[in-house]
Amino acid sequence: MEQYLPQQVLELVEDISGQAAKQKQRVYLVGGVVRDLLLRDPSLRSGLRFDLDLVVEGDAVKLAQQVAETSQAKLLAHRRFGTAKLRYENFTLDLATARKETYAKPGALPTVTPGTLQDDLLRRDFSINAMAISLASKGYGKLVDPHEGQTDLEHRLIRILHPRSFSDDATRILRAVRYEQRLGFRLEAQTAQLLKRDIHMLDTISGDRIRHELELIFKEKRPEFVIKRLAELGALSRISPFLKGDGWIAEKFDRARRLKKPTQLPSLYFCLLIYSFSVTEIEQLLARLNIPAKLSRAMHDTLRLKTKLPFLDTSPLKPSEIYYLLREYEPLAIQVNAIASEPSMAQRYLQLFLTKLRYVRTSLDGEELKRLGISAGPEMGKVLQLLHKAKLDGEVRTKADEKKLALSLSPKL
Ligand code: CTP
Repeated sequence: MEQYLPQQVLELVEDISGQAAKQKQRVYLVGGVVRDLLLRDPSLRSGLRFDLDLVVEGDAVKLAQQVAETSQAKLLAHRRFGTAKLRYENFTLDLATARKETYAKPGALPTVTPGTLQDDLLRRDFSINAMAISLASKGYGKLVDPHEGQTDLEHRLIRILHPRSFSDDATRILRAVRYEQRLGFRLEAQTAQLLKRDIHMLDTISGDRIRHELELIFKEKRPEFVIKRLAELGALSRISPFLKGDGWIAEKFDRARRLKKPTQLPSLYFCLLIYSFSVTEIEQLLARLNIPAKLSRAMHDTLRLKTKLPFLDTSPLKPSEIYYLLREYEPLAIQVNAIASEPSMAQRYLQLFLTKLRYVRTSLDGEELKRLGISAGPEMGKVLQLLHKAKLDGEVRTKADEKKLALSLSPKL
């Protein structure tokens, strides 16, 4: 921890350890950070990803309240769930009261009761995520590893903790593959067998939860590897029979990454995944994943624009013609088509729209036109539109050009 946690985080962890001792509570670091510490993941030190998960044997909210009082943190407590979030400037800390989970039926959210650290580790997805580091003053830094997570890390294996794991919570199918591909691990033999056996249990998971897991996949460095592997295992087609994880997807995902900022990527990836879909196929996926309205519009627009691309390729178009053709589509849909289409005139037009045409504005505004004697209302609207068109087509460049054009247009109108 001393080597890999950023100084600020380390000091806070030590402080929490002291506060917990005063309250006679036992607190542990759990989850991904324990795994990544044991893997000596250098990205920990950079402090770029900092979400720490802590489990408290006792009362997590009480401990969080105490920590919030003595540090500059914003506290968000859920007393009913025994959980609390402490938000610092650069990172967040999640504190949860140790709990036991049972599943009334597959895919449902679990029933939660208070428990011990051992219970809390047993409810987790994989052995490599089911380890804890004690922050108690006695035994500070000691690893708690009841499911041989460390051995699995050494053998580079993803292993579930019990045979009902995937049927209890089939999101673990998607999670298993995400970790496998991120870490370059393998699915342990029995885990792989059970994963295949339980693929159909994905049907028990709500659209929102599947979509959330896909979003997590899309935050990975190389999501195409995860998508490809999910396809191989039959999990992708279980979500929608029309989804593919082939070389085309890999190439376009890679292209999207080279062009766009990380925050824009998840929506782009979603739209690339449906690029070969028909309208009915899209409708099915939208319903299955309960896709929000904005993304759903972008998906439909992606397809609508795709069918227009041949038209953009037939004859040379003026910039204003390109602008009027494309302005009705979501920019995301235009971006997707620019990435997905082959090099062509159409592709160049899409790029031109995205990088230039959509930002073109006239220099004159309504107030200035009034001063030139043009009255507000339909006449001014028309003048503004014609000025904009002239500017798009490079017929006017300066403000003086625009004034001249406006005055010459006005009497005609
Ligand atoms: N967890 C689980 N089952 C889930 C989700 C989460 O058991 N369906 C547990 C795992 O122990 C996991 C921890 O909760 O390590 C925290 O979950 P999350 O924040 O999603 O993942 P991290 O392990 O922190 O991994 P990363 O952010 O690196 O993907």
